[in-house]
Amino acid sequence: MVAAFGGLIFGYDLGISVCASSITRIFGRRLTMLSGGILFLVGAGFNAFAQKVWMLIVGRMLLGFGIGCANQSVPIYVSEVAPYKYRGALNMMFQLAITIGIFVANVLNYFFAKMKNGEGWRYSLGLAAVPAVMIIIGAMFLPDSPSSLIERGKDEKAKQELIKIRGTSDVDEEFKDLVEASQSSMAVKHPWATLLKRHYRPQLVMAIAIPFFQQLTGMNVITFYAPVLFRTIGFGSNASLMSSMITGGFNALATFVSIFTVDKVGRRKLFLEGGAQMFICQIVITAAIASKFGVDGNPGILPKWYAFLVVGFICIYVMGFAWSWGPLGWLVPSEIFPLEVRSAAQSINVSVNMIFTFAIAQVFTSMLCHMKFGLFIFFAFFVLLMSGFIHKFLPETKGVPIEEMSVVWQNHSYWKKFVKSASEEANAKVDNSC
Ligand code: BGC
Repeated sequence: MVAAFGGLIFGYDLGISVCASSITRIFGRRLTMLSGGILFLVGAGFNAFAQKVWMLIVGRMLLGFGIGCANQSVPIYVSEVAPYKYRGALNMMFQLAITIGIFVANVLNYFFAKMKNGEGWRYSLGLAAVPAVMIIIGAMFLPDSPSSLIERGKDEKAKQELIKIRGTSDVDEEFKDLVEASQSSMAVKHPWATLLKRHYRPQLVMAIAIPFFQQLTGMNVITFYAPVLFRTIGFGSNASLMSSMITGGFNALATFVSIFTVDKVGRRKLFLEGGAQMFICQIVITAAIASKFGVDGNPGILPKWYAFLVVGFICIYVMGFAWSWGPLGWLVPSEIFPLEVRSAAQSINVSVNMIFTFAIAQVFTSMLCHMKFGLFIFFAFFVLLMSGFIHKFLPETKGVPIEEMSVVWQNHSYWKKFVKSASEEANAKVDNSC
């Protein structure tokens, strides 16, 4: 019954992210963020003061609503307002916030769980109000993105915002590009149907493949599995605290590496380096577990060096994710979608991410029982596959203004046959009319 509700709530999160697509398009990114924050706050209140189970369910639904709205609006908002030279670094603040949130929540949960009166869960759930208030305050003071203002016909306000954000009145060129992008966007009445057109194939493929692959790195499984491993290899009753401190700490800290490098070395290099690092760690962790635990799961006495080896490679794995697929899984989709399909494509991205987070969390324990250490090989295989995918299909987007992104597909060896340049299209029309 509870699991079924879990599914229902999850489905609800997804539904919301699809609705949030229209909200971001019609009411703007800022209002979507603000409503997300308010719903998250009310949800945290319901959970913290719950007297009956239904209150927990309603609270959880509201949190889902909040998450759907935030994931839909924050990455595209940042990519739209950031100067393109620092777009990567600024967008990655989103992932930094996720990792700090996970870290703080895990550490606090550990202590709240020890509260003698058994009311610790109220604090754990209620503290979700803190990020909610931060989003609400932030969204109240933030300007809406110029693209979103133009999209809603507020050109003059958009220009003023652009001048303010860029800190210079020399914005004519960029403003012209934004207006052009908005004009082609307004011509599109049905973004969902448009996204299915051949012309948008690269964006559609990326909106599905990137979040799918991000979850198939196995990051969430490694972090779920880490406390068990840590306990087994001798961290005793403090295993879950140690695990969340160590993996959570590395996850947040390593995100800074990508913040500082993504706009210099580019997205592709980070994806490929992170992939190689995760692959090697998965193989080493598999070998380490296989040699000591075998398939019966009975390790006998484990030496100290073994504990260091496993913990060490888990940390290197987490760092690999934290400077590649973690932040890039949100950055790249948010910067490659043209305005006319941006909200629709982002909601596909968010939904696919959530579906696979959910699916993997559901099947992980039974996979572990059946596959034993083979579970890590399963994810290692996907890491290899996704690295090949990036190598062949993802063009570099570093330093390309978001309104000019179509050029990267036109110049790409594979995607160019799907995406014709404007001049080619014009020629094709002339040819057809002759
Ligand atoms: C992913 C989450 C993951 C988190 C961990 C995010 O980018 O979407 O599934 O738990 O990173 O750092």
